[in-house]
Amino acid sequence: MSELNFAKIRSEFPLLSKKIRSKNLVYLDSAATALKPWSVIERISHFYTYETANVHRGAHFLADQATAFFEKSRESARQFINAESTEEIIFTKGATEAINLVAQTWGKSNLKKGDEILLTEMEHHANIVPWQMIANEVGATIKVAQITDEGELDYQDVQKKLSSKTKIFSFTACSNALGTVNDCAKLTKMAHQVGALTLVDGAQMVANRPVDIKAMNADFFVFSGHKLFGPYGVGILYGQRAILEKMPPYQGGGSMISEVTFEKTTYNAVPTRFEAGTPNIEAVIAMSSAIEYVQKLGWKNIIDHESLLLRAATEKLLEIPEIQIIGQAKDKAPVLSFTLKGAHHADVGQILDQENVAVRVGHHCAQPLMKRFGISGTVRASFSVFNNLADVDSLVNGVIKAKGLLL
Ligand code: ALA
Repeated sequence: MSELNFAKIRSEFPLLSKKIRSKNLVYLDSAATALKPWSVIERISHFYTYETANVHRGAHFLADQATAFFEKSRESARQFINAESTEEIIFTKGATEAINLVAQTWGKSNLKKGDEILLTEMEHHANIVPWQMIANEVGATIKVAQITDEGELDYQDVQKKLSSKTKIFSFTACSNALGTVNDCAKLTKMAHQVGALTLVDGAQMVANRPVDIKAMNADFFVFSGHKLFGPYGVGILYGQRAILEKMPPYQGGGSMISEVTFEKTTYNAVPTRFEAGTPNIEAVIAMSSAIEYVQKLGWKNIIDHESLLLRAATEKLLEIPEIQIIGQAKDKAPVLSFTLKGAHHADVGQILDQENVAVRVGHHCAQPLMKRFGISGTVRASFSVFNNLADVDSLVNGVIKAKGLLL
């Protein structure tokens, strides 16, 4: 990326020019949530200021216009993940709701006692708890595929744990806590060979790598807007049309019905069957601005830049003897989890915060993963397109300062 583009990119994120405690913000927490560019912020504000109306209900200009923008966003999301049809794109509150939707609808009508749900040790809670809830309800069993000490998925263990009892294999495309990028096409193929469906959690993947649903061949794919420079309260559930059509509704209410009487209700076709009630209209509409933003940057630029930062940060942190990197997979998104031997991650985080370096500390909503590594948490720095090598230096200098104060 040229210097000129990079300066422009930074200027597109208003929070980067805000002083916090009189100093610039070094934002290294994009895995928790991405900063928002002006184009997304302005799209939300424009809708509230000039375009407010409900969707799929009105008989007036503003309502028709809002519906058109809303449906345009569905088309943007379809293109973004290369799905076949907009009927396969369902708007949810986020990735978590999308997984709950699948567990509670597909799960309830397809899982029974003795069936198995396969997860991996690197899942975050959103891809564990919904499956435990439905497993407890129907008497199914949760199996867990192991990871290696480097934080890579153990594909042999996946193979071993897949069997004719496996009904669904739900796994992350990219670990939010380790950065590990999984080979989704290979994993869906392995699952399909035993007749299992797949759900791919793309929450961490979508901001860092392109997604091609057709190549991946996942039955379900979920992601959130907020990690993709987009708004809160919006996410996508992709589902293969033939599977969605056989699923019962999730929540009841307006929009998802075809006809209601007090005796009986018939339901709408997909995707609106799964979109009960007035949605987060401005968030759905601004989601397409977030997608446009990523597309304008270009995947090669994003990946090259973020890989450079990840490499530089890893090398520099490893010069500190007490640093242990948790997650050293060959293919990694720009997520760098580490511990400073002899210091608690919360204390390191606090010292970094005093330097205005924003990171996440703790278990990253992945307690079983931390247990796997025998730790209670890590310090996690996550990079984005607007970070630079000076941000890497701020992180490393902050950790050196923490070492001086804590060890
Ligand atoms: N899943 C988000 C994270 O990794 C919230 O921090």
